[in-house]
Amino acid sequence: MKKKLSRLDFINMKQSGEKVAWVTAYDYWTAQFAEAAGMDMLLVGDSLGMCIYGYEGTVPVTMDQCIYHSEAVRRGAPNTFVIGDMPFLSYQVNNDEAVRNAGRFFKEAGVDAIKLEGGQRVCPQIRAIANAGMLVMGHIGLTPQSSGQLGGFKAQGRTAEIAVELVEDALAVQDAGAFALLVEAVPPEVCKIIRDRLTIPVYGIGAGVDTDGQVLIVSDLLGVFQAFTPKFVKKYANLAEVTINALQAYVDDVRSGRFPEPKHCYTMIEGELPKLKEELSKRLESK
Ligand code: KIV
Repeated sequence: MKKKLSRLDFINMKQSGEKVAWVTAYDYWTAQFAEAAGMDMLLVGDSLGMCIYGYEGTVPVTMDQCIYHSEAVRRGAPNTFVIGDMPFLSYQVNNDEAVRNAGRFFKEAGVDAIKLEGGQRVCPQIRAIANAGMLVMGHIGLTPQSSGQLGGFKAQGRTAEIAVELVEDALAVQDAGAFALLVEAVPPEVCKIIRDRLTIPVYGIGAGVDTDGQVLIVSDLLGVFQAFTPKFVKKYANLAEVTINALQAYVDDVRSGRFPEPKHCYTMIEGELPKLKEELSKRLESK
């Protein structure tokens, strides 16, 4: 049976240069497949708002939605490190709300860690959650919950001025007690500087290869999400095409009577059909 990795394993992997491979997952069967594929960790990302619910962004996602999906992923991947993603306004208001909502992920969904977005401005919340005994992953760079302030889903840290802020954010998140950091949509040079300065693992999405591991959104990787494809996505399959073809074949089979075949049907116990017919004709005659 696969061994679930721990915070210490992730630190050891950083030190030995072993990369961590992870994806998002939102449901039971994707989690099962990811665990079977040997994924090191899974994130129940608030990207579920776009990938599962069809919202334009992640802002409308609720705590309850994140909990339901985290529970399903936990059941599908019992031996994989699972991270719950804290949705917009579940941690920004104050430390107490942040701790209470983070705690829900652990108590109700059995996650191993939570992730939240932001640098220095969310460090009090990171510290409060970590002080309550929970593992917290930071997330800087392109932070989709504040994409309005960032001018959309755009790369960050392309100027020295903003890149310096990102390095300071990264150090602050580490000092606040985060066990790992995710850097999104940042030039590789900037991510490398961050990774070289931090002792905690630094993972990337759209941040180049100089990281301690990579995450992709599973719906992008599998070619399911159709609305747009970020520059940093590599599609490993075209499940949209495979799925539409399969559904069309089913529609054709139903309409033409090719489905179901005898092998898809239950049989009556031998000798029961004549008895049924006899019984029915008796009942009909007596009326
Ligand atoms: O919500 C999400 O899927 C994320 C990705 C950037 C990994 O945070």
